[in-house]
Amino acid sequence: MKKIFALLCCSFISVLSFSQVSKPTIAIIPEPVTIIENSGHFSLPQNVVIEAGNQPEMKEVISFLKDRLSTPTGIHVIIKNVAATATVKLILNKKSDAVIGKEGYHLLVTPKNITIKANAPAGLFYGVQTLVQLFPKEIESAVTVKNIKWEAPCISITDYPRFGWRGLMFDVARHFFTKEDVEQYIDQMVRYKYNLLHLHLTDDQGWRIEIKGLPELTEVGAWNVKKTGYFGTFSVPKPDEPRNYGGFYTQDDIREIVQYVKERFVNILPEIDVPGHSLAAIASYPELSCTPDAKNYHVLSGEEMMDWSHGDTLIALEDNTLCPANEKVYTFLDKVITQVAQLFPFEYIHLGGDECAKNFWEKSDAVKALMQKEGLKNMQEVQSYFEKRVEKIVESKGKKFMGWDEILEGGLAHDAVVMSWRGMAGGIQAAKMGHEVVMSPTTFAYLDYMQGDPAIEPHVYATLRLKKAYEFEPVPDNVDAKFILGGQANLWTEQVYNMRHAEYMTWPRAFAIAEDLWSPKESKNWNNFAGRVEKHFARFDVAEVKYAPSVYDPIINASASPDKKLIVELSTEIDGLDIYYTFDNSFPDKFYPKYTEPLIVPEDAVALKLITYRDGKPIGRMITVPVTELKNKADGKSEE
Ligand code: ACM
Repeated sequence: MKKIFALLCCSFISVLSFSQVSKPTIAIIPEPVTIIENSGHFSLPQNVVIEAGNQPEMKEVISFLKDRLSTPTGIHVIIKNVAATATVKLILNKKSDAVIGKEGYHLLVTPKNITIKANAPAGLFYGVQTLVQLFPKEIESAVTVKNIKWEAPCISITDYPRFGWRGLMFDVARHFFTKEDVEQYIDQMVRYKYNLLHLHLTDDQGWRIEIKGLPELTEVGAWNVKKTGYFGTFSVPKPDEPRNYGGFYTQDDIREIVQYVKERFVNILPEIDVPGHSLAAIASYPELSCTPDAKNYHVLSGEEMMDWSHGDTLIALEDNTLCPANEKVYTFLDKVITQVAQLFPFEYIHLGGDECAKNFWEKSDAVKALMQKEGLKNMQEVQSYFEKRVEKIVESKGKKFMGWDEILEGGLAHDAVVMSWRGMAGGIQAAKMGHEVVMSPTTFAYLDYMQGDPAIEPHVYATLRLKKAYEFEPVPDNVDAKFILGGQANLWTEQVYNMRHAEYMTWPRAFAIAEDLWSPKESKNWNNFAGRVEKHFARFDVAEVKYAPSVYDPIINASASPDKKLIVELSTEIDGLDIYYTFDNSFPDKFYPKYTEPLIVPEDAVALKLITYRDGKPIGRMITVPVTELKNKADGKSEE
């Protein structure tokens, strides 16, 4: 944030302490480029007039603002094209302002009124999002709230994004999420100025989009057996178990979602994940596989299907790949991509390419013949052959071809756009080759990972804490920034069964990624951000959106001392928390020992219990860590 301190006598300086978590009065996420705080407040009058143009693109901008200013307040809001005395003016610049670009805005709040100016409706939409964040948290309420001073501080903001690609990926394949769920997710993401929703539409566990002329994809491919527990370890369904869990979007549903995002200035990136992750397609049309046994395959229901124990070499237990040596596969993909291209207006289509096990290709005579015919030396080159053919299909529909960074292996297709997920290396390599790149590395941007210690979080095999997500920098050193379109965070849903948990996994890390992608790099400050996050937790409480409070829980490390004692070291992501602990199985509170130095685990202890406090009040969750798990941590065996 570039704070400009106005020299006018009515202005004052807001001092932010960067050494500890701040307690900001103005808490906007993502942090705007420039904020000038002035003295005084604007108070909503009993009758609010919004002055705004009547262009169709303004419909949602106005309706969102009207709803927020009226529903929680009970205030009467009317809309006028021209008003002598408007309360809120939404103005589209006649002459474009080069500083703020297509998505930026100027917001001015004075004691008398509010003005938002932008070059385009998207900028006004984002200005409105910022404005709402200036009002008390109760503005988020779905019902009228009494006895609130509906005031916003006088302020002048100039704001615009750092990157044009600010994405979230929602995996609707591992578990199906309805059209209404997706729309709810969109409503939440646009509040934080995301402009791209990547829909992962197909995988081994489900095909989620109607394709005309390929009815089995949704009659067979969209359905599996409902299982409960830890996904990836489920028992293999019995032949008579009903396959009625799942669902898909009809083409009318897709058109509706596309219209919904258009009104909110969001693009949808559709992903059809091939040639791996394709069991739902193969269960529907077994002839797409190189493996004769495929006629006995079913859509996965969360049972184990991959042997991950051979490093980068994946061994599929069932052949979940499309056959690169079968012309029917390319005819199939042409049909699918034609319809996807027609349904989604965005200029990019994502064709997956990740985690393609090659062990069944290695056994296939058809693949061997293809290698000979095309002079392909290894399985990476076979995948590269496949990707290049798919790129041609995508481009023949007037779209840009995008894939996960595995598409670099064996030779990158001519104009392919790379989404870098196995760290940043693939993105760096592609950018150096002059290709467009979107960064979405596991290290900073995987929302399916746990946000805190496995002792308290629903189990996933890795951890990504909020602080780490906030360190995401999409443009690596020595890379030409012009090739980095931006970044995105990915919510894979193997372990996400419902919307409440999707929200829990998304927030607050998506606050961090939003700021990584929107705000100037030099303005980022963890303590300041952490203070704003807490304000947004309070807003989410009012809005009834779920979030993970993991940032308040301790970070737990264990090691063995030279004399073989088990040592525990505790710390916290945010400053200013006290940690109380017990080894005697009772629940600690502030009357128990406070952590001040590394602990030696008593010889016969079975569990460590922990809780954090701030200013004498509990703030973290009660955590129980079995001593066996502390030993695993010390041995480097914990899944973190
Ligand atoms: C991925 O996470 N398999 C792209």
